[in-house]
Formats: sequence, C-alpha cells, structure tokens
Amino acid sequence: MNCILKYLLVQVIILHITKDVFMEIELAKQYGFCFGVKRAIKIAEETQKSATYGPLIHNRLEIDRLKNDFNVDLKENIDSFKRGDKAIIRTHGIEKSDLIHLQSEGVQLIDATCPFVTKPQQIVEEMSEQGYDIVIFGDKDHPEIKGVKSYSKKDAYVVLTPDELRNINLKEKIALVSQTTRKISNFLKVANYLIENHKEVRVFNTICNATFENQSAASELSKKADVMVIIGGKNSSNTKQLLTICKDDCQDSYHIESVEELKKEWFNNKRLCGITAGASTPDWIIKEIFNEISKIS
Ligand code: F3S
Repeated sequence: MNCILKYLLVQVIILHITKDVFMEIELAKQYGFCFGVKRAIKIAEETQKSATYGPLIHNRLEIDRLKNDFNVDLKENIDSFKRGDKAIIRTHGIEKSDLIHLQSEGVQLIDATCPFVTKPQQIVEEMSEQGYDIVIFGDKDHPEIKGVKSYSKKDAYVVLTPDELRNINLKEKIALVSQTTRKISNFLKVANYLIENHKEVRVFNTICNATFENQSAASELSKKADVMVIIGGKNSSNTKQLLTICKDDCQDSYHIESVEELKKEWFNNKRLCGITAGASTPDWIIKEIFNEISKIS
C-alpha cells in the first residue's frame, strides 16, 4: 500500500472513531435548589389557595407548576390583596412598607423569606438605629436589595464598586452588608475601601453559602468541560453569575431556562458536557434537559 493510501485509511479510521465517541454528560457536584428555595416551595405547597406577592422564586416554570398543581397564584399588584387573603412573602423578601400595608389591610401573611435574606434586613435595621451609615453591596434594582434597604432608618447606599463610594459623604461609623448572591472577592474590594478610609467599619458577610457551593462546583466542572449548559430563570441573578464563572474556563457556555432552547450544534464534536443550575431551578427541569442532551449525544 502506498503512503497516500495508508494516510487516507488512517484518516477514515480516526473519523470513524471520533464519530462513534459519545459525549459524556456530567452534573456539577452541587447545583440547583438551595435551602431557602426548597423551604419557600414547601411553604407554598402546604398553604395552597393563596397568592405570592411578586414571584416566589426566579423561575417562571416552577411558578406555573405551583399555580396549576397547588392553586398558588402570583400577584404583582399589592392592592389586589383583600382582607382575609393569604399572601406568601417571596424568598427575596419585600419592602418593609409593603409588609406594613398588607398587615394593615388584614391580609394574612405567610413568610417564605429566606432566613439568609431576613438576616441582612435585621442587621440594617439594628445598625441604622444605632447611628451607623448603611452601605449595601449589591444591585440596587434587585428585589432583595430593595427589601433590605427599606429596613434602614435613614438613607442607605447601594453600590457595586468602591468607585461608587468616592463621592458619598459617609460618617465615621459604617455598617456594610452584601446581597446574598454576590461574589466574595468583589464584596472584599468594597470592604477594604471602607476600612482604609473610615474609622469604624462593621462588615457583615451576608453572602449565602449555597451560592458559593454552586459557584465553586460550576467552576471546577467548567475547567474540564468542552461545553457547559447552565439552567435557570433568565431573571435569576445567581444563574447569570454561574454563566459568567463558567465562561471564564469554557467559552461554549449557554444559559437556558427550558428544554426548547437547546441547540444541537452546541454539542458537535464535544466530549464532555457539564451541567449546572441556579439556586431556583427545580430538579424536574434539570432532569428534562439532561435527558434531552443525552438523546443529542
Ligand atoms: Fe436563601 Fe441563599 Fe437560596 S439566600 S434563597 S439559601 S441562594
């Protein structure tokens, strides 16, 4: 056999082997529902015939399931709650003035606020009462942060970077808390800036462990995966952060909310597909997507 023929034969064998290699699928060591979300869903399922004020969790499909299977409605307008109605308070909490309004209207409150969110609410209330200026590290438009901020007895400052603090005239006594789903490294930048520039800074690490655990497991898996699928609500901040973390090590990382968004071409010539999911993604969605990817591979 001449050299060219030998070469072509080897190429055909290689192509054949490559075509027959199945893509492996691996779930991150830690993913999906956190303690606070599991607790909120259990409360909603047990309460039934009620309504949540705002989405209970950041996952539209799970909210539909609660509506269909347990008669748990979603109300966005506070005035639509009437005396005697049952209002479930979502995992991210609500603003204190809304809570007082619902109570004064005779609405029965069922509190599904995650205890890790209640904590910064309490800290902000207590520290502002003691005369501390309040700095909150987080996204000012996120419902959790609007809720936490509302517990301050005076103005509270919400920032994401130390730069945003430069033009704020803070007192010497400052208390700092964080949005539960933020990265610790960025929180430390804000904490360090405050410590360097002010006499007394009380730093409360209110970042939740569930977020850390999902993030480090996603990071570990994305280092060896050729493609990563990150499952979670499009408005879920912790899912978006998982995407950013995975993209650092695996460019082919995709954030999807439902099985319909999967695209076959993402998996062409890939050997390992990693899967992770945000803290408000139910297991039944993850399973559905896992099964679909298995069929593609
Ligand atoms: Fe609570 Fe942490 Fe989950 S704050 S809702 S346990 S991500």
